[in-house]
Amino acid sequence: KKKVIIDCDPGIDDSLAILLALNSPELEVIGITTCSGNVPAKLGAINALKALQMCSSLNVPVYYGEEEPLKRELVTAQDTHGEDGIGENFYEEVSEAKVLSGGVDFIIDTLRNNDNVSIIALGPLTNIAKSLMKDKEAFENVDEFISMGGAFRIHGNCSPVAEFNYWVDPHAADYVYKNLSKKIHMVGLDVTRKIVLTPNIIEFINRLDTKLAKYITEITRFYIDFHWEQEGIIGCVINDPLAVAYFIDRSICTGFDSYVEVVEDGVAMGQSVVDSFNFYKNNPNAHVLTDTDEKKFMYMFLKRLFKGYED
Ligand code: BDR
Ligand code: CA
Repeated sequence: KKKVIIDCDPGIDDSLAILLALNSPELEVIGITTCSGNVPAKLGAINALKALQMCSSLNVPVYYGEEEPLKRELVTAQDTHGEDGIGENFYEEVSEAKVLSGGVDFIIDTLRNNDNVSIIALGPLTNIAKSLMKDKEAFENVDEFISMGGAFRIHGNCSPVAEFNYWVDPHAADYVYKNLSKKIHMVGLDVTRKIVLTPNIIEFINRLDTKLAKYITEITRFYIDFHWEQEGIIGCVINDPLAVAYFIDRSICTGFDSYVEVVEDGVAMGQSVVDSFNFYKNNPNAHVLTDTDEKKFMYMFLKRLFKGYED
């Protein structure tokens, strides 16, 4: 099994990504850390526990980490994900005693005490930048690093050029791209925008009538309204689960190696600048994804979340 830490900001699509990871036999999720992004870090930790509870996996520890971006003031996305971060209509209680602090130290200790741990980052890179600053050597042990974030040839979702995760904490994102010795798999909007839960798929899930089906239908409703009101799309784009799916099966996305930097401020703040023509003559620090087989993704997602319905 591949050991992974999921660093995230749940978040509706983060919650779906957690469900996919927990239902994937190839993975051993050794811990979940949260930082502020879609919602403040502590609330994100509660939402991560709710996703774990859905899969009877409360044995996986959840730690919240950084509550503010490195330099910018926090801007959350509660207009997109709801005040509670999971669509304002699903409130199954979890014990707050399970919300642990010390996300950054958990990441460092885990990397120091285990071989071959990968990190799948689904939110701003604040926790990762902080732990990398604190203990760069520990990161020599990182097996693979996947980051949902950035945009290459596609319009941003926070500005014409910036994607939310890198826009919330551009200093952290840039620091990680410049300092991590491993290549970052950049799962940006170019590929994640193709992953859409359409009304038909949602209706299909709804009719499966399991506990998980009800949860997914409930938490995505608010998100679907947001997509209709803001973008004129019926359905919802789910970004984060693609990063998990790609980690499991590389054939789901294609891309190329390149040097990437993230713009820290100004009009292009948060933009991932992908030097695809190699103007800067720097060694590639990223594998930038450009295309995805969305059917393959959807098949994996549904099959794993609704085992028993597949035949
Ligand atoms: C990213 O922003 C967040 O709102 C989502 O959870 C995803 O990680 C997409 O830009
Ligand atoms: Ca996220």
